[in-house]
Amino acid sequence: MNKPEVLLNVFSSMDGKITTAPGRNVSEWTAAGIDGEAHDVTHRLYDEMECDGLISGSETLMVYGKDWVHLENPVYEPKKSKAYIVFDGRGRIDWHQTEGLLVVTREDVSKDYLNQLTDKGIDYILAGRGKQIDLPLALHKLYEKGFRKLGLTGGGSMNGAFLRAKVIDEISLVLAPLAIGGTSTPSVFDCEDLKDLEGVTTLKLLNVDRVGNDSVRLHYAVIE
Ligand SMILES: NC(=O)c1ccc[n+]([C@@H]2O[C@H](COP(=O)([O-])OP(=O)(O)OC[C@H]3O[C@@H](n4cnc5c(N)ncnc54)[C@H](OP(=O)(O)O)[C@@H]3O)[C@@H](O)[C@H]2O)c1
Repeated sequence: MNKPEVLLNVFSSMDGKITTAPGRNVSEWTAAGIDGEAHDVTHRLYDEMECDGLISGSETLMVYGKDWVHLENPVYEPKKSKAYIVFDGRGRIDWHQTEGLLVVTREDVSKDYLNQLTDKGIDYILAGRGKQIDLPLALHKLYEKGFRKLGLTGGGSMNGAFLRAKVIDEISLVLAPLAIGGTSTPSVFDCEDLKDLEGVTTLKLLNVDRVGNDSVRLHYAVIE
C-alpha cells in the first residue's frame, strides 16, 4: 500500500517530555521564554522538510482548545503545508477552526459526529473500525488524496502509535534546554512497553545542530 513519507518533528525537554505535566499546553514554555526557541525552530523545520500536511492527535487539539496560551510573539506558521490533519478516532472534538482542516476518524464513529463534519463542511477520511483508527489504511487514503510528505506533530500517544505501527520514516527532535521529569507526563513516544529487543526501532543519525537559544536538533532516518 502506498503511503506518504512520515516525518516526526516535535520539540521536547532534554529528558524527552513534550509538556510540563498531563493536560498542560506546552506553549506555556514558549510564553515564559524558557523553551530555547525550540517551538519556533520546530515550526520552521516543517517548511525546511517540505511537509505538505501536518498531523496531530485529538488530545493535543483538545488541550490547546481548553487551555489556550496567548503568545506575545507568535511562533512561525508553516507555509508549505496544505492541511492540518487531525486524527479524532472517537469523534470527540467540537470543531470551530475549520480552515484547512482534514479529519481522520473511524468508519464506526457516531452518526452525530459525521453530521457535524458534514454540516460544518469539513473534509474527512474514514479508516478502520473498533478501538483505534487503522493507521496504515489512513496513510494510504492520505496518499490517494495527494499527500506525499506529512509532518507528524504529536502528541506523545499519536507519535507512539505511529512508532509501533512502523510508519515513521524520519525523526526530527528539537531538545529545549529544560529538564522536566515526572512519571505520567507525556513524552515523545507514549505507547505500550516492548517485551524484548524485537520491537526496537533503529535509527541512522543524519544531523546534529545547535539551534535557537541553547537548543539542539537531532535528525534521524528510521532504519527499521
Ligand atoms: N512538544 C511538542 O512538540 C508537542 C506537540 C504536540 C502536543 N504536545 C503536548 O502533548 C500533550 C498531548 O499529548 P497526548 O499524548 O496526551 O495526546 P495525543 O497524542 O494528541 O492524542 C492521542 C491520540 O493518539 C491516538 N491513538 C492512541 N493510540 C492509538 C493507536 N494504537 N492507533 C491509532 N491511534 C491511536 C488517539 O486516537 P483517538 O482520537 O481515536 O483516541 C489520539 O488521536 C499536550 O499536553 C500537548 O501540549 C507537545
